[in-house]
Amino acid sequence: MAISSQITIFLCCAFIASLSFCSVASVPELQRLKYQLSKVDDHGSLLSFLVVGDWGRRGLYNQSKVALQMGLVGEKLDIDFVISTGDNFYEDGLTGVDDPAFKESFSNIYTAPSLQKQWFSVLGNHDYRGDVQAQLSPILRKLDKRWLCLRSFIVTAEMVDFIFVDTTPFVNEYFTNPKNHTYDWRGVLPRENYLQNLLKGFESALRQSQAKWKIVVGHHTIKSAGHHGITKELEEQLLPILKDNHVDLYVNGHDHCLEHISDTESQIQFLTSGGGSKAWRGDIKWWKPEELKLYYDGQGFMSVQLNEVEANIVFYDVFGHVLHKWKLSKELDSDV
Ligand SMILES: *[C@@H]1O[C@H](CO)[C@@H](O)[C@H](O)[C@H]1NC(C)=O
Ligand SMILES: *[C@@H]1O[C@H](CO)[C@@H](O)[C@H](O)[C@H]1NC(C)=O
Repeated sequence: MAISSQITIFLCCAFIASLSFCSVASVPELQRLKYQLSKVDDHGSLLSFLVVGDWGRRGLYNQSKVALQMGLVGEKLDIDFVISTGDNFYEDGLTGVDDPAFKESFSNIYTAPSLQKQWFSVLGNHDYRGDVQAQLSPILRKLDKRWLCLRSFIVTAEMVDFIFVDTTPFVNEYFTNPKNHTYDWRGVLPRENYLQNLLKGFESALRQSQAKWKIVVGHHTIKSAGHHGITKELEEQLLPILKDNHVDLYVNGHDHCLEHISDTESQIQFLTSGGGSKAWRGDIKWWKPEELKLYYDGQGFMSVQLNEVEANIVFYDVFGHVLHKWKLSKELDSDV
């Protein structure tokens, strides 16, 4: 029920967005979806969700074990939805809307009742190596109504705005030195236009946001001590916008680990949840100890619970054991 009403809102928004996009092409706006909160606590509305990244391997590399624990934690927290930070299907995304990997790596894996909620997904670099439009296709939403993957979009949930950003097209290497990989850049070229519109839409969404919490989700790292480390292009182009607009959390995957970097130069918490399946790469770079609150080189996932005044972030391993907790607080509005 909840899912189908959200989809209705989505289709309606997509229609409006495409209309306004056609008539005023110079003002690129990100698609906006509304999520209706249904739970309350002492501080008003309450929202909880799980974050998993870098997962689709037909259950292998502990993907199924992570899924099982997500189901248990999801039930305990009575989650509203799940966020996927991308690299949804390995190694090379989906071959098309009829690729059995969709069922074998998604529908048949995340089977717990608590995970039968909306999934909001972004694309990772591995997803761009397949038929990228398949993952964005409404046909997949018919096969499994939980699925919703878009390039860049906003989910507004009262006290929180989530801004999902398509980070793969920012990375120069995929264009200049793609190695033996083929990337599906349909919808992205010409790249300069795509990035310019994306950045404008992204910045304007953050600038206009009145929400108490601002959470940005992308696939690539901005700050990370892991295998891939810092993504220079995002550090240069996205990070200043995050700082200027008081973003609370930047949530990503890409590095196959669980990680929390608490920035000392801004209020931003950098959270990596890329432990959905294959992990244990064993290469960790040095990072300022006063910022690095967690680095776990194995599988797992993250939960976030938030209300008007508090956000609680928890990381779990493959057994569901808590690896790390972090609490953020906000002042109550003085005029309330
Ligand atoms: C699965 O998880 C266990 C516990 O963390 C770990 O020892 C094992 O190496 C993992 N298996 C794979 C294939 O990563
Ligand atoms: C590309 O593929 C060829 C043939 O399979 C292989 O010999 C070569 O090492 C590959 N190059 C890279 C950069 O992976």
